[in-house]
Amino acid sequence: MKKAIIYLSMFLVMGLIFYGCAPKVKFDDAAATIQIDAAKVVSDVGPLMYGLMTEEINYSYDGGLYAELIRNRTFQSPAPVARGFQRPRLQPAAPHDVQSQQHVKPVSGQQVLPAIPDRVPRGNPQQEQRPQFPPQQLNPSAVITDTAVKYVKGLYYWNLIAEGDAKVSIAQDSIPQEGTALTKCLRLDVTAVNNSNRAGFSNEGYWGIPVKPNTRYKASFYAKSAPGFNSPVYVTIESNDRKTIYANGTVESISGEWKKYTLSLNTADLKATSDACLSITTKSPGTIWFSLVSLFPPSYKDRPNGNRADMMTLMSQMKPAFLRFPGGNYLEGNSPDTRFNWEKMIGPVEARPTHYNASWGYHSDDGMGLLEFMYWCEDLGMEPVVVVFAGLYLGGKYEPVTGEPLQVLIKEALEEVEYLTGRPDTEWGAKRIADGRREPFKLKYIEIGNEDWFDVMSYNNRYTAFYKAFKEKYPGLILIASATTVKSVIPDMVDLHQYMNVRNCLAEAHRYDEYDRKMPPVIIGEYATREVSPTSNFYGGICDAAYLTGLERNADVIKMTCYAPKFVNVNPGGMQWTSDLMGYNGLNCYGSPSFYVQAMFSKNIGNKLVSSSITNVPIGKENGFEEIFYSVTKESTTGKLYLKVVNVSGEPKLLQVAIDGMKKIASTANITRLSAAKLTETNSIDKPEKIIPVFFVEKGFGNKFVYNLPAYSVNVFELKGE
Ligand code: AHR
Repeated sequence: MKKAIIYLSMFLVMGLIFYGCAPKVKFDDAAATIQIDAAKVVSDVGPLMYGLMTEEINYSYDGGLYAELIRNRTFQSPAPVARGFQRPRLQPAAPHDVQSQQHVKPVSGQQVLPAIPDRVPRGNPQQEQRPQFPPQQLNPSAVITDTAVKYVKGLYYWNLIAEGDAKVSIAQDSIPQEGTALTKCLRLDVTAVNNSNRAGFSNEGYWGIPVKPNTRYKASFYAKSAPGFNSPVYVTIESNDRKTIYANGTVESISGEWKKYTLSLNTADLKATSDACLSITTKSPGTIWFSLVSLFPPSYKDRPNGNRADMMTLMSQMKPAFLRFPGGNYLEGNSPDTRFNWEKMIGPVEARPTHYNASWGYHSDDGMGLLEFMYWCEDLGMEPVVVVFAGLYLGGKYEPVTGEPLQVLIKEALEEVEYLTGRPDTEWGAKRIADGRREPFKLKYIEIGNEDWFDVMSYNNRYTAFYKAFKEKYPGLILIASATTVKSVIPDMVDLHQYMNVRNCLAEAHRYDEYDRKMPPVIIGEYATREVSPTSNFYGGICDAAYLTGLERNADVIKMTCYAPKFVNVNPGGMQWTSDLMGYNGLNCYGSPSFYVQAMFSKNIGNKLVSSSITNVPIGKENGFEEIFYSVTKESTTGKLYLKVVNVSGEPKLLQVAIDGMKKIASTANITRLSAAKLTETNSIDKPEKIIPVFFVEKGFGNKFVYNLPAYSVNVFELKGE
């Protein structure tokens, strides 16, 4: 993390280290040559080229970005049996082909897309034999055996504390609290205890409660006591072996009626650890009920109910321009109860009923609700891309919604927009203000459904119905279609998802060279070269870089891009989807090489795509793949030219560059490079910065220059006119 911050600040101070010289070699007719006409603008580069996609997967929010440390805080989580991911609808075996999505007949109530043949990498006469990475792979470590026996039924992740000869029990109880969505609670019965022992319960958090030095934690809970209990309750962050108290506080007495209790727990100068829990105990007999137990560390920008500061800081390094949320499969769920329903995720957390995230096999406490997504956008300066539920459940049991029920969903989506953008005199605008946000949000992008090519038969009608209703009420909104098969109206944009492997990603760098320019502009709302887990390695990163050069070269149609999934909790059982962008545990986080590729690209993009071509692209002898990928953009306000060149081969490659349309290119250029000795190298929670970009200044550039590209390298050249 420290190194990454240094890397960032190096951008700001424009490092002054001179790092060797580009070799002065004369142009050779046979060598790879990029010809650039910097004066000839092909198109604008959209200001939202690089963004983020997010959903609740791999413990992205609960146990991830959302800073809450208590697991199952409202005692509503079902038994912790992560069954792993099983998608009931079939997924195409290859990246989703713009041209290949077809109408297919339902088979036993399910829509099945035909397998799409892989594209053959350019220059490769035959498919490489490397087996294809499975498009969705069940993570074996996500399959946890049923541990319910360890817990009292309904009190998953909560444990009993009975010190000495204390006699105590805990049970799940059902006592709805008026005016809230809190229906379940924990009942603590202490029948025997003395002053030298404690009786109570503890929460184990998400793979432990992370404890950091000199930190103020905010603990809170709802409680009420049975008549006769008039004693203090102790709230403690302590080691799991109960030998070390890291922070503690006391609530002197508990009322006979439900009441919220809040206290600060402050740690001293200790060594950070996750081997800890939160305990609530008493030294007196009696009965107490507890509900919504919460523990927050300081959050990013001190937002109440906010996000983890370290993850937000790391994310900000990517300079993301937009956030696509809330999914992903998480949007759709398997049924009406398990989809993302924004109306149940607003207001105080006490008012949120929580839901089972059937898409990824665990309960969601829904602290990360609609407003929290919007605040996340504001905190990182991102444009929100709100995906609304469009009637497609992933569970085979439910048919896509049509007719009158579809109108209900459309109304719900329109109300969502009103909630976010409405004036105080609108019903939902007033509700937003009541929820603490006066200013309407700026909102421009709405996506209708997620991956509705899983049911192309019904999507044309569903999208069209949403489109008409939205255009009537909110004509200024850009309405993204999640499949390319809509015919009744012309979508403003289409969202294409590309999950690739190291075999086909290089060919994908050319996919949009052939994109039909009469089709709507594109958001690549999910992409990744999937290679290893939990986060992708340098092989994945360099392939992503090659692919992204292809997206930049087609910036006239590709307007937005974002990697998916974004987050993974690297603890055992935390991952449902392999190859993710950022990994973390309770204490630390890191970015994968793909993360740094995106950071490099998004910081060096400019606003114009300029005319360019390449000749004599070297072809790998063994695999027949192209070995050099590139793109060229410029910033019209500064005149800076950004040349990105990726050498995917294990050998250095000579590159010749000729630049017209700029008077005189300065001899000195800023270079940012990501490279690794081996493709298999990676970052991890223990070695978070093994592979990070280096920034340096080099001489020897001009309107014509020759450069020796290092093996396995992603290079960004920032060239200036003199
Ligand atoms: O990114 C993981 C999943 O891949 C998303 O939830 C879904 O949209 C896609 O199929």
